[in-house]
Amino acid sequence: MSNTAGSTDTTSLNVESLTVSLGERSYPIFVGDVGFSDPAKLAEGLAPYLKGNQVAIITNETIAPLYLQQVQSALGNRQVDVFQMPDGESYKSLDTYTQVMDFLLEKKHNRSTCLIALGGGVVGDLCGFVAATFQRGVDFIQIPTTLLSQVDSSVGGKTAVNHPAGKNMIGAFYQPLAVFADISVLETLPDREYAAGLAEVVKYGIIYDADFFAWLEANAPALVQREKYALTHIITRSCEVKAAVVSEDEREGGRRAILNYGHTFGHAIEKLLGYGRLLHGEAVSIGMVMAARLSVEFSGLALADSQRIEKLLQQLNLPVTLKGLELNAEAMIDAMGMDKKVVDGELRFVVADQMGSVRVASHVSVSALEKTLAEFC
Ligand SMILES: NC(=O)c1ccc[n+]([C@@H]2O[C@H](COP(=O)([O-])OP(=O)(O)OC[C@H]3O[C@@H](n4cnc5c(N)ncnc54)[C@H](O)[C@@H]3O)[C@@H](O)[C@H]2O)c1
Repeated sequence: MSNTAGSTDTTSLNVESLTVSLGERSYPIFVGDVGFSDPAKLAEGLAPYLKGNQVAIITNETIAPLYLQQVQSALGNRQVDVFQMPDGESYKSLDTYTQVMDFLLEKKHNRSTCLIALGGGVVGDLCGFVAATFQRGVDFIQIPTTLLSQVDSSVGGKTAVNHPAGKNMIGAFYQPLAVFADISVLETLPDREYAAGLAEVVKYGIIYDADFFAWLEANAPALVQREKYALTHIITRSCEVKAAVVSEDEREGGRRAILNYGHTFGHAIEKLLGYGRLLHGEAVSIGMVMAARLSVEFSGLALADSQRIEKLLQQLNLPVTLKGLELNAEAMIDAMGMDKKVVDGELRFVVADQMGSVRVASHVSVSALEKTLAEFC
């Protein structure tokens, strides 16, 4: 693969590996059986990235009873301190950030400490922002435990906490030293959380790789069953696609915006329904179907391809319509007008020309938009 260096020897770990290529900030992602069933294996994998004697694991109250022990036993005789936060998006906050800072200082962590994020995107985003700012930046490793965090939030270096005025309003671009995505942890993930992660996987097929999209269609039942071969493939390929896009545009100056396919609609749906009613991935699923319909009107996507997108998302147990959700077209347009992807007053949409190929369009006609919304509301 052009976007992967694949130079890390992982034979002894029996995992797939790829590299996010960002010059001196490049880092590897390991996918598969990274060692949750064997502390020695995990220890071997982690060792090259642990330079000092101090480690702080940031995790939450749901994940700790399931997986903390496995990570702790892989860290040997180092000073290991664990900060357990409560579960939930509302704890991705400045308040928790301050508590983690207080904790690290109280435990006398110094600049050579390494933070390990053990959890989903909430833990990863918060831990990454702490790592970016604790004593002007310390090492951190991501051990993502949700499908969404394995295919999306642990790749690309966006770290943040929320502010009452908006999500991810306080943050930094900061890359981890390495990412360890173990597929066995997905066995305990609730069904809705798992499906929400699949929405982002489908997105990579639509925006970048038509063959991958076809593979997802052919393997949809295996994906629903969480079969290991399917998980390893989708996580690896998703990370490759995200890594390729991020490597071209680390700080979201241009190309990286294609990762927002379906998100302009999705964010409006989340905002109108109130955060929490639908999971982010569920709102994005509906948003991707809406973006596909808009693409049929606006950028020449074949109707058959739009229908394929809808069918695949349905097969993966994701919602594809707003019917029954009491949203109207006018409210959606208003909510999108507030969206952060509005640049200089122009509403920008990521539209597909064909399967596997998208672009950012800034002059989508209101009539095309209204027509799309009328089909959904
Ligand atoms: N940094 C980025 O580029 C980026 C990209 C996308 C999303 N995000 C952020 O990610 C967050 C969402 O992440 P998420 O979807 O992983 O949600 P999450 O971290 O809230 O995890 C979802 C739920 O699953 C639980 N959980 C995690 N792993 C589990 C496991 N293996 N078994 C059982 N339960 C488990 C969690 O405790 C939580 O209750 C949001 O804050 C979003 O803003 C960041």
